Amino acid sequence: MSSLGTPFTAGAKRVMLCGSGELGKEVVIELQRYGVEVIACDAYPNAPAMQVADRAHVFSMLDGAELRRVIELEKPHLIVPEVEAIATDVLAAIEEEGLSTVIPTARATQLTMNREGIRRMVAEELGCRTSPYAFAATIEEYRAAVEGIGLPCVVKPIMSSSGKGQSTLRSPADIQPAWEHAQAGGRAGAGKVIVEGFVEFDYEITLLTVRHQGGTSFCDPVGHIQVDGDYRESWQPAPMSEAALLRARQMAGDVTAALGGFGVFGVEMFVKDDEVIFSEVSPRPHDTGMVTMISQDLSQFSLHARAILGLPIPNIRTHGPSASCAVVVEGQSKQVRFGNLAEALAEPDTQLRLFGKPEVAGKRRMAVTLARGKDVDEARAKARAVAERMAIEL
Ligand SMILES: Nc1ncnc2c1ncn2[C@@H]1O[C@H](COP(=O)(O)OP(=O)(O)O)[C@@H](O)[C@H]1O
Ligand SMILES: [Mg+2]
Repeated sequence: MSSLGTPFTAGAKRVMLCGSGELGKEVVIELQRYGVEVIACDAYPNAPAMQVADRAHVFSMLDGAELRRVIELEKPHLIVPEVEAIATDVLAAIEEEGLSTVIPTARATQLTMNREGIRRMVAEELGCRTSPYAFAATIEEYRAAVEGIGLPCVVKPIMSSSGKGQSTLRSPADIQPAWEHAQAGGRAGAGKVIVEGFVEFDYEITLLTVRHQGGTSFCDPVGHIQVDGDYRESWQPAPMSEAALLRARQMAGDVTAALGGFGVFGVEMFVKDDEVIFSEVSPRPHDTGMVTMISQDLSQFSLHARAILGLPIPNIRTHGPSASCAVVVEGQSKQVRFGNLAEALAEPDTQLRLFGKPEVAGKRRMAVTLARGKDVDEARAKARAVAERMAIEL
């Protein structure tokens, strides 16, 4: 499968992206470098990845009939999910019918779009260590679940991402509001929640893991900070003991092998002393992995492109301590401007990605800053300084 053609000809390699955010945009750029013909899909026009793709289709990824219509129209060789919320039953049928290859596999997209599927597989089938957990579909089951797990605990809709609908419960007074928050914050509306024991971790990491034709490769661990369940800063390499790193790699290798297919996975884990506790996994590049755009010669996006095209990944070269800082804009605007950039980017070894999102309504990640430093602390301070110096005009 290691030959590639010319776009817009019969020999073109066609890839269709389901979801066209900032992570997808970078994947498209990397695929374009190989002359791949890329079709970007998302629910709104001018989404970031559409701005660099060859063609775009605007529809909800949860609309199974429309998803199938566009796949049958475009006949992509590969379908690359960029978001969790997709009509994954259609992807499974398409894969089954042999129409297209789903990255990494249709089953992986089905298991990971729902916290219950992946948690049960990892904890109950693979026997990996996780937080204690219980699922609840009704308020009665929920109260019993919180009782069983004990406080503090974390409640999340089983279908949600970026911290939406998620609460940490510390006292009995938090129990009722957390249920209501989860019912309002789930992707598919009201529904089941997971109650997880709160893990008092020392730090958390994403272990970017690449499954490719030559085997499985690991990036250096990425450390990160989350605010309200949403990533704000990440850095690489996250300092870790040799014992914890070995355990993390073993776990990431096992989990990604069980999901199968080719591509990058973001395996999220908590670390306490030398113990590693599985949290969740994305079967695609990860937002905290944006740091690899400055820390590695082949970023997670470039690795994803190589892996899914069936190309080898003999090594991953790193450039030393690096960091990323999310630029989260708050307010209402359809014409955000980013000012003071000359000053913001005056420091050596700093970079900026503006995602080109057409609108902000509330809080939205609109850009990311990147930096290298003599150590991780300096890299983080530099990345934060770039973000702080930017003047956002709504
Ligand atoms: N059981 C837990 N114990 C402690 N912190 C948690 C737990 N679950 C989630 N968190 C915190 O919330 C963040 C987001 O949770 P996560 O399950 O990754 O949701 P999402 O799918 O929205 O990213 C985690 O990165 C971690 O910082
Ligand atoms: Mg997460």
